[in-house]
Amino acid sequence: MRVPFIGGNWKMNLTRAQAAELAAGLRRDLNGLRQVEVAVFPAFLSIEPARAALDGSAVRLGAQDLHWEDQGAFTGEVSGPMLRDAGVGHAIVGHSERRHVIGENNETIRKKLRAARRSGLTVVLCVGELLEEKSQGFTKEVVEKQVTQALEGTSPQEREGVLIAYEPVWAIGTGKVATADYAQKIHHFIRNLVRRIADGPTADAMRVIYGGSVTPENIGELIAQEDIDGALVGGASLKADAFTRIVRTVAERKGGGA
Ligand code: 13P
Repeated sequence: MRVPFIGGNWKMNLTRAQAAELAAGLRRDLNGLRQVEVAVFPAFLSIEPARAALDGSAVRLGAQDLHWEDQGAFTGEVSGPMLRDAGVGHAIVGHSERRHVIGENNETIRKKLRAARRSGLTVVLCVGELLEEKSQGFTKEVVEKQVTQALEGTSPQEREGVLIAYEPVWAIGTGKVATADYAQKIHHFIRNLVRRIADGPTADAMRVIYGGSVTPENIGELIAQEDIDGALVGGASLKADAFTRIVRTVAERKGGGA
């Protein structure tokens, strides 16, 4: 079965000292964690202090972004090999804030996905529709394009290390979580897309996680859905207590105990 995944996307928050403190709290509170994969995604500068604070813990370390080339004249960018060297194992690609605030497109995201896999990083590929796209009934079209174009031309080995995070943009940071029923429908749609793009076993093995205003209070209902394999958590991942409660709920409902 699919191992549930919970990611904490710290976004552009926390000083290095605060990141180390939060990581140390997670190391303590999630001691003995089993059967749920947990990763935190600090800002680049906080990766090293978080790594040191998590040493010996089952909590993994991720990056929020990476460049599509391995090295070269790309001022301000960070590459996959650099992240590997820093002890990073996961990378978020195509987060809505990078698509809609920074202006990344599906082609850029596809290149980043392949670069991350080239460096052996597990990819959390984010997709999701804007409020106006939802209102106009275009959710499935938008998500289909995002998933298809990101996975276009990828090999089975590349796809093996990919998780898809469905993050409806209208739910991110708004307190307006998608209903479990709505999220389940889109997750099911995404899994069927993967079945079409790749094959049945790939679709059945791929983890599709939900993001957007996840809290300790609403995670139980979400994780009870058949096609929801975990969550990508923003705001609630900045407090060890709230994040730990989310992880524990998922472990109890889907992971066989933690
Ligand atoms: P919030 O949990 O703050 O809504 O953020 C979700 C998100 O963007 C995770 O990547």
